[in-house]
Amino acid sequence: MTSSQPLDMTLSRVFGEVAETYHAARPGYPDALIAEVLSYASLTGPAGLPAVEVGAGTGKATLPFAALGTPMLCLEPDPRMADVLRRNAAAFPDVRVEVASFEDWRPDGTRFGLLLAATSWHWTDPATRWPRVHDALAPGGAVALFWNPMSVVDPALHAALAEVDRRHGLTLSPHAGLVSSYGDTPGHWPGMLGHWPDEECRRDGRFTDLRSLRIPERARYDTDRYLGHLSSISLYRALPDDLRDHVLADTAAVLDAHGGGIDIEHLHDLFLARRA
Ligand SMILES: C[S@@+](CC[C@H](N)C(=O)[O-])C[C@H]1O[C@@H](n2cnc3c(N)ncnc32)[C@H](O)[C@@H]1O
Repeated sequence: MTSSQPLDMTLSRVFGEVAETYHAARPGYPDALIAEVLSYASLTGPAGLPAVEVGAGTGKATLPFAALGTPMLCLEPDPRMADVLRRNAAAFPDVRVEVASFEDWRPDGTRFGLLLAATSWHWTDPATRWPRVHDALAPGGAVALFWNPMSVVDPALHAALAEVDRRHGLTLSPHAGLVSSYGDTPGHWPGMLGHWPDEECRRDGRFTDLRSLRIPERARYDTDRYLGHLSSISLYRALPDDLRDHVLADTAAVLDAHGGGIDIEHLHDLFLARRA
C-alpha cells in the first residue's frame, strides 16, 4: 500500500461521536471473507479457543463471526462504540465486550485461537502490536487483519466529487480513487494511510504462513447513506462542524445530480498469518 501521509493518532477515538450513524452507514464484510478467516484459523489452529477482536467498534465484523458460533472477546476503547456493540451483540452470550485499547488490555494469561482486527489495525501502536499479538495467541493461533476501502465506478462522478474535495482542501476521501486506479494486489490502495501488515509481520519473525486475499464487492449507496458514511470517517470528523456541513452539502448536491447515489467497489483486503 502506498503511504502518502502519516496517520493522526489523535483521531483514533472520534468514531463514538457518531456511533449510531457509523453502524447504520458503514459497510460490513462479506460472508466469503468471514469464511476464509474461520477456515484458516481452524486449519491447524488450536481448536475450541476463543477469538479476540481489536477495535470491534459497533460490531460490523463481530456479528457475522458471532452468528457462526465464534466465542469472542471484543476490545473497544470508546465506551460509546462499546455501548452500541453490546446492544448489537445482545443475542450472543459468547460475545464479551471490554472497554480497552489493544495497548491497555491485559490478557492475564488467557490464550486465543484467533486475533482479528477489522478496519482498526492502523490505529494500534506499531511499536508494540506484534509482540502483543504473539503473546495473546496460542501456538498455531491465527491473525486476521482486514479493511474495506472503496473506489468509485463512474469516472464522471469521480471527477465531480474530486472537484468538491479540491475546493475544500480535502485529500484522501473515501471516493478519492477510481476503480481503474487500484491494482489487484491486496493492500495496494493508492494514496491511503498506513501500511499493509505483511512487512511488519515478517520483521517480527515469529509468524508463518502469511497470506493476502482480496474480495471485491460492488455496492450502491444512496445519497443519505453515503453522507452518513462520510460523516463517520476520521477525515471528516476532524473538520470543524460548519466546514463539515458545507462539504457534505456540496457532496450531496453532486450525488443528487448524478442519479441520487454512488456506485462503488469495496476492496475487502484480508491479511492472514499464524503464530509459529
Ligand atoms: C474504523 S473503526 C472500525 C470498527 C469496526 N471494527 C468495524 O469494522 O466497523 C476503528 C475502531 O478502532 C477503535 N480503536 C482506536 N484505537 C484503538 C486501539 N489503540 N486499540 C483498539 N481499538 C482502537 C476505535 O475506537 C474504533 O471503534
